[in-house]
Amino acid sequence: MTDNTEKISDMQLCRQMIDERLHEQLVEAGTNYATLVESMRYSLLAGGKRTRAVICIKFCEAVGGRAEDALDAACAVEMLHTYTLIHDDLPIMDGDELRRGIPSNHIEYGEFTATLAGDALQAAAFETLTNSPISSEAVVEMVRTLAQAAGPHGICGGQYLDLSGEGWQLTIDELLELYSMKTASLIAAAAKMGVIAGYGTKSQIEIAHQYATSIGLAFQIRDDVLDCTATEEELGKPIGSDEENDKTTFVSLLGAHACEKMIKKETEKAIKAIEGKFANTEFLTWLAHTLANRTK
Ligand code: IPE
Ligand code: IPE
Ligand code: MG
Ligand code: MG
Ligand code: MG
Repeated sequence: MTDNTEKISDMQLCRQMIDERLHEQLVEAGTNYATLVESMRYSLLAGGKRTRAVICIKFCEAVGGRAEDALDAACAVEMLHTYTLIHDDLPIMDGDELRRGIPSNHIEYGEFTATLAGDALQAAAFETLTNSPISSEAVVEMVRTLAQAAGPHGICGGQYLDLSGEGWQLTIDELLELYSMKTASLIAAAAKMGVIAGYGTKSQIEIAHQYATSIGLAFQIRDDVLDCTATEEELGKPIGSDEENDKTTFVSLLGAHACEKMIKKETEKAIKAIEGKFANTEFLTWLAHTLANRTK
């Protein structure tokens, strides 16, 4: 096996473990609100890339922890991420009708159900997190980390800046702040929660934060590039959404060439941050490159 195929199969095994655990969650039958739960599972199990969940598990392993110890945290991050996607697609936000290759939640179930499915997935994320088989102190630290990433200084604040900026030309600094809040904050939380689940040190939490903040920025810039260059079939979501909504992105501000340079720079920064700081950084190094060059 070449090095690359080894990493790919490692990634697939990790995704499989996450998907199996997610399938066991939110099983509800015979209630009057079963459709709400069904709509939560509809988006959660529609086959996302599970990037944040994999990051969580791999950081736990990087500090010598067991994957199982970070599995509930990884599922929690996926639930919270799925909530953000459901809300992000609503007509009052980006107004996109396709997600993960199937009709967006509000197209399939209607707007009030989709709104509530997002709310309930966020609550389910925190409940799932509390099932983690680690010390109560570590669970509290993970809850705090996820809450901070989700709140006004993280995703919600970032989405606020994204939506209130529509129709305006934002500056590079404004965009950097917005991306670090709406996208990098959750990726960083996933990495830090992995370290916490594996009982890593404070300095390892800080290093995980640096790595994930850089790959998070690169991840959102790649997302913006793909919004212009990929196809709907490849992405499983509509293309041209940013232009249609009159958003400032690094593509609209600086052009595609500058975006490639930024992605490369942030990826190298991420790799440098973890160098020699964990027993084994091979997978995380490979992952940074793979995410930078993704096509979906
Ligand atoms: C989409 O995230 C939203 C962004 C922050 C760009 P992903 O590209 O990780 O979406 P899924 O989880 O694979 O569907
Ligand atoms: C995603 O940004 C930010 C979230 C927090 C969901 P986008 O609006 O660009 O994500 P996509 O392209 O719809 O997945
Ligand atoms: Mg959006
Ligand atoms: Mg969107
Ligand atoms: Mg996008």
